[in-house]
Amino acid sequence: MARRKKLYEGKAKVLYEGPEPGTLVQYFKDDATAFNAEKKSVIEGKGVLNNRLSEFFMTGLGQIGVPTHFIKRLNMREQLVRQVEIVPLEVIVRNFAAGSMSKRLGLEEGTPLPRPIIEFSYKDDALGDPLVPEEYIIAFGWASQQDMDDIVALALRVNDFMSGVMHGVGIKLIDFKIEIGRVWDGDFMRLIVADEISPDSCRLWDVETGQKFDKDVFRHDLGNLADAYTEVAKRLGVLPTNVTHAAKPTLIN
Ligand code: TMP
Repeated sequence: MARRKKLYEGKAKVLYEGPEPGTLVQYFKDDATAFNAEKKSVIEGKGVLNNRLSEFFMTGLGQIGVPTHFIKRLNMREQLVRQVEIVPLEVIVRNFAAGSMSKRLGLEEGTPLPRPIIEFSYKDDALGDPLVPEEYIIAFGWASQQDMDDIVALALRVNDFMSGVMHGVGIKLIDFKIEIGRVWDGDFMRLIVADEISPDSCRLWDVETGQKFDKDVFRHDLGNLADAYTEVAKRLGVLPTNVTHAAKPTLIN
């Protein structure tokens, strides 16, 4: 079989040419990075968990009418997705203060926000993905005003869906990041949710105990990252069959 063409390799995923024009294969690696790749590790099983979790969230979004790039999962680590032109923004939605917002404003992590707050970072690793105002985005032509209105509407729908799903399994959605892609249907351009939605790009806290089940576990050395993601997958009922603790043989007396 011919080797397929690698189109792009990021910190956590690889994109390969898909089987048909307009499609890509998205491969989830086990690599974990934080603080713009200053901290790096390989977390066995992370890619498998994120492939499943992203499939679960993207499928659910599709079912409520939020367009995404997800087509189908191919295997343990790969999914078929629509090829998009990525809008060079990280779209962050926050429900509770945490991370960089807590630092910037001196707010205790977990402080409820008066309403969901959306912010944008310009996707550029060399610059460390700087926070940018909407004014910059429009002036520099990264997205139009109409695009921004659509992106905000999409982000809020994703937030409502994700908050509800997570709340149903006793997890608080503190914040998350999504990326948006452009697709063309003839001359008509649409914006859809792309990239991934997984505990790599969300903050997820147990409702009762406040325990963290997201990449902060790795960022701040709070425990085993794969165990944290496994807990999320277990609660959502999307645990892959042969990645985690397979049932041990039982002795029959
Ligand atoms: P922050 O508080 O560090 O700005 O992060 C906000 C949210 O965005 C959080 O859920 C983690 C996520 N995020 C990413 O997905 N990628 C990144 O590179 C960063 C900095 C944050």
